[in-house]
Amino acid sequence: MFKTRMTQMFGIRHPIMLAGMNWITEPKLVAAVCNAGGLGLLAIARCTPQETRESIRQIRQMTDKPFGINQILIGPGAKENIAVAIEEKVPVINYSLGKPWFVNDVHAYGGKVVGTIAIAKHAAKAVQMGCDALVITGHEAAAHGAAATSMVLIPIVASMVKVPLIAAGGFYDGRGLAAALALGADGISMGSRFMVVKESMVHDNFKILCIEATEQDTLYGNVFDGMDGRVLKTKEAQAMLKRGFPVVDAFRGALLIKRLMNLSFAKFLGVSIEMLRAEEGHPLMVLARQAVGNMKHLKALTEGDVEGGILFAGQCCGGITDNPTTKELIDRVISEAETALANMNSFKA
Ligand SMILES: Cc1cc2nc3c(=O)[nH]c(=O)nc-3n(C[C@H](O)[C@H](O)[C@H](O)COP(=O)(O)O)c2cc1C
Repeated sequence: MFKTRMTQMFGIRHPIMLAGMNWITEPKLVAAVCNAGGLGLLAIARCTPQETRESIRQIRQMTDKPFGINQILIGPGAKENIAVAIEEKVPVINYSLGKPWFVNDVHAYGGKVVGTIAIAKHAAKAVQMGCDALVITGHEAAAHGAAATSMVLIPIVASMVKVPLIAAGGFYDGRGLAAALALGADGISMGSRFMVVKESMVHDNFKILCIEATEQDTLYGNVFDGMDGRVLKTKEAQAMLKRGFPVVDAFRGALLIKRLMNLSFAKFLGVSIEMLRAEEGHPLMVLARQAVGNMKHLKALTEGDVEGGILFAGQCCGGITDNPTTKELIDRVISEAETALANMNSFKA
């Protein structure tokens, strides 16, 4: 058993978080993680406000444990989705990519706000804005890590801020949990590892691809959804890297997203302008690029199209070798971490 500031703050048994993953961290997986003692996050960036509310209520039917939501703040629908999560008094609100305007509203009902950062100087800013804890994403991670690896980023941030830290990027077993605690974190967040569990909706073809991948089998670049990010090395991902940005596809994709999310043209333009003003200065075309990336991502997840699909995935796929239940995985990570810590200083010449 590990008692850390993370387990204490969120009222959970184990210092393990299910990273928010659009389309993947749905109610069933979230509840499975919570019931196994971790903290499950429902990713709501793809949801309409009504879907967000329904999913939150579904989770509450499947578990009485604390859980959270994850929302990318720069996309369409972020304001409406966060408002629903606040109305529903979700215990943990985790955001990425943007500035939180809702900290006081979450604190008012006793909830916690968890910011996600990939650059050390953003950690101090997030704490100033009122975040209760931070997810620190290293370069190894699936999707949007920046240049620094977890090994470098965690101790730097641990020396800068006093709030609980959750290490993300490259963690898939108990040795990683022990290492994260040693580096100054209070627990870990796992994305890629939780894609390959029984309760995950990821198509078997991609689960097998993750299991077969080595640590060399991911690609990092900004062509996949417009921001620097990491995906599994598929045929389509390699082709995207080679040919650069597909302008026509991107506009088609952006219009599709507009339709799916029921946005008026005025709203669509408003969101785009907001994105121009976002902290990292994301260009207007990011939305269009995201649309293309999302379509290929969805194709991978639901159809198992290993030729035409792309899947965000981290370097730690090289260490993933099985498809356990969520509970088996969490119990195993905890017992491996206990063993790793016990063995650390046990060598006798
Ligand atoms: C398929 C997939 C989808 C993701 N979607 C999101 C998302 O919607 N919001 C977000 O903040 N991070 C997202 N991420 C990043 C994860 O939250 C997490 O930071 C990352 O997976 C950690 O690295 P790891 O894969 O090495 O564990 C996604 C990751 C994957 C693999």
